[in-house]
Amino acid sequence: MPLRKDKILVIGASGQIGVELTLALRKQYGNNNVVASDLREENPLLKDTGPYVSLDMMNKEMLHVQVIRQNITQIYLLAAILSATGEKNPNLAWHLNMQGLLNVLDIAREEKLHKVYWPSSIAVFGPSSPKINCPQQTIIEPSTVYGISKYAGEFWCNYYFNRYGVDVRSIRYPGLISYKSAPGGGTTDYAVEIYQEALDHNKYNCFLSENTYLPMMYMPDAIRATLELMNAPAENISIRTAYNISGMSFSPREIAESIQTHLPDFNMLYKADSRQAIADSWPQSIDDTVAKKDWGWKPQYDLQKMTDDMFNNLNVTKTLDQDPS
Ligand code: NAD
Ligand code: SER
Repeated sequence: MPLRKDKILVIGASGQIGVELTLALRKQYGNNNVVASDLREENPLLKDTGPYVSLDMMNKEMLHVQVIRQNITQIYLLAAILSATGEKNPNLAWHLNMQGLLNVLDIAREEKLHKVYWPSSIAVFGPSSPKINCPQQTIIEPSTVYGISKYAGEFWCNYYFNRYGVDVRSIRYPGLISYKSAPGGGTTDYAVEIYQEALDHNKYNCFLSENTYLPMMYMPDAIRATLELMNAPAENISIRTAYNISGMSFSPREIAESIQTHLPDFNMLYKADSRQAIADSWPQSIDDTVAKKDWGWKPQYDLQKMTDDMFNNLNVTKTLDQDPS
């Protein structure tokens, strides 16, 4: 439990990670101490679980007013444009991802916030980075605007920590898989969509080729990693850019095989699109030795355990949808 009484603002709370992270933070800090905010409407799963404000992080003045008005002491900044959507409008992705972060870091400095969380991504790595067990420190030459914005963002976090003492912490998330809220325009989204499509239609048209291995993680592990990093003593945090963390690594063929243990007739078709080039530029697996050493990171889910849990939860939702009584 935190020693100080904290009041948290989550920006981008209606997104894939935001919903689950907000609920987890509310469990830890108390419902009224976690203010959810987003540009879009409140996600139905957040309704009646705590305060919600409609907020555009690009409007720095309004953001600053909310931080002061609500007595905010920590910000979790999740709003961003992800890899696939970013390639459709690179200028917008750069502007939103960079300016949003700089607005938050500036306000954190001015208001002396206790902590800031901002996620980076495996997308910082590019074609020249090692493909297997990609280390924390290595050649980093991202080829997507999303990856460039995340890498630049990591150095802004490092700068605000060293220059102004802002306690900002970050993780390079792998592709995240969840059943509660839909993903928002990433290259790894196939590994989320596939489960619902398998249940609804017993088939899936995959936009990546069958042997494309990528680093992935089940959402409960990602949420736990985030809370563990944020609760770690400041003196344990040796990385002020962003930590590599690893969960699992699999290809579309392997996730299809794991789904077939539940649905033997499940059929997967492959038709690679422009997202294939993005996936090919990223590592296949990640070395997370430093996160393990600094704050004890350890994943709990492998591919089959995740698939079993996804089907358990999606089946419950389907049954409730069909029979609301
Ligand atoms: P998402 O697209 O699902 O959610 C982002 C949310 O931000 C959306 O609800 C959107 O409405 C909101 N938003 C956009 N512009 C905003 C603005 N101007 N002001 C306020 N809110 C705004 O994204 P996500 O998957 O939840 O990702 C959250 C963070 O984690 C991002 O920084 C992303 O880069 C990072 N990340 C995600 C993954 C993944 O697999 N989901 C992997 C690596 C890193
Ligand atoms: N899941 C994210 C994406 O595909 C990785 O940051 O964009």
